[in-house]
Amino acid sequence: MKNILITGGAGYIGSHTAVQLVEAGFNPIIIDDLSNSDEKVLDRLEEILGKRLTFYKGDCSDRNLLDQIADKHDISGVIHFAAFKAVGESTVQPLKYYQNNLGSLLTILDFMRAKQIKDLVFSSSCTVYGQPEILPVTEETPRQDAESPYGNTKKICEDILMDFVKSQAGIRVISLRYFNPVGAHPSAKIGELPIGTPANLVPFVTQTAAGIREKLTVFGDDYDTMDGSCVRDFIHVMDLADAHVKALAYLGEQKDDFYDVFNVGTGNGNTVLEVIRTFEKVNRVKVNFKIGARRPGDIVKIWADTAKINSVLNWQPSYSLEDSLRDSWNWQKTL
Ligand code: NAD
Ligand code: WQD
Repeated sequence: MKNILITGGAGYIGSHTAVQLVEAGFNPIIIDDLSNSDEKVLDRLEEILGKRLTFYKGDCSDRNLLDQIADKHDISGVIHFAAFKAVGESTVQPLKYYQNNLGSLLTILDFMRAKQIKDLVFSSSCTVYGQPEILPVTEETPRQDAESPYGNTKKICEDILMDFVKSQAGIRVISLRYFNPVGAHPSAKIGELPIGTPANLVPFVTQTAAGIREKLTVFGDDYDTMDGSCVRDFIHVMDLADAHVKALAYLGEQKDDFYDVFNVGTGNGNTVLEVIRTFEKVNRVKVNFKIGARRPGDIVKIWADTAKINSVLNWQPSYSLEDSLRDSWNWQKTL
């Protein structure tokens, strides 16, 4: 059974990926400093999987800790989720973001070279496309200047990865550009755990429906879109997790010094108002909302062209928007 080190594996996407990895026959080893997650996730994973996953509490920029982990386990690949991800905070504390998001990647790459670990899947983001001129976006769509320090860290990390692979370090890397991850494990035992007021749409919707927030504000209904609100590609976190399993399997078939990027989305765009209405309909619950001003810097519309991941990784999403919003609500109800 191959050991896969998952940095940030106690977090939202990492924990769901851990589940899918076990189901695909891998042995995930989690390292997480719990800066944006809770150790209880490990108990929840045990309930889902029927076994306790190996967990190291610590910073994945701590090279000594990584070396200790590699001494104990023969690691064949890494999925690097660990990063700070709050766009707003990154504009106020940019150094915190550059330090953690770039520093952790640099440490992981140096560690992989030293220990001759070949395969890496990196969490990138559709944020690297900015507001694209042509939709849907393919992997060839030019990247644009980032809107935030957070977004810039993803762009720079992709550049670091490309340069490292070009240097013939002997590694194989895939960057997955996630669109908007939503939903939760269908068991409702794990899901997204926003700390404080959520900045993202779906956690704000679920907290409003639960009465934790009084009212959701829709940031603008006067854009040039179907109903005036912004358009995004909402991807169920279980499907996103599955893309990591497929990416690892594909990396295993490649020669050394391989790099590629894949969009991970459904290929469909939905508006913010559609999300609210669909949420209300599937869950038979009201969401108190009002139309407010546009959010500065918001992307008006973006969704993925998924032809590449469909054909090359043989990956298809299997959950609908309805499934995602039902699972998000079931998770919220457990909180
Ligand atoms: P998350 O915050 O739930 O998970 C990240 C985990 O990493 C957390 O558990 C946190 O405690 C941990 N962590 C952070 N820095 C660490 C460090 N230095 N050492 C060890 N652990 C550390 O976030 P998520 O939504 O699961 O995102 C995972 C990755 O996907 C991130 O790289 C994020 O930028 C990227 N991403 C997320 C989204 C999204 O909307 N959720 C979209 C695109 C890309
Ligand atoms: C979605 C839509 C809002 C909250 C962010 C990051 C990006 C990437 C994905 C990581 C927008 C609207 C939201 C609310 C609203 N993450 N909205 N009221 O903007 O696609 O991107 O997550 O890489 O980097 O910036 O996601 O969930 O913030 O917003 O109307 O209270 O919902 O205006 O149109 P976004 P989001």
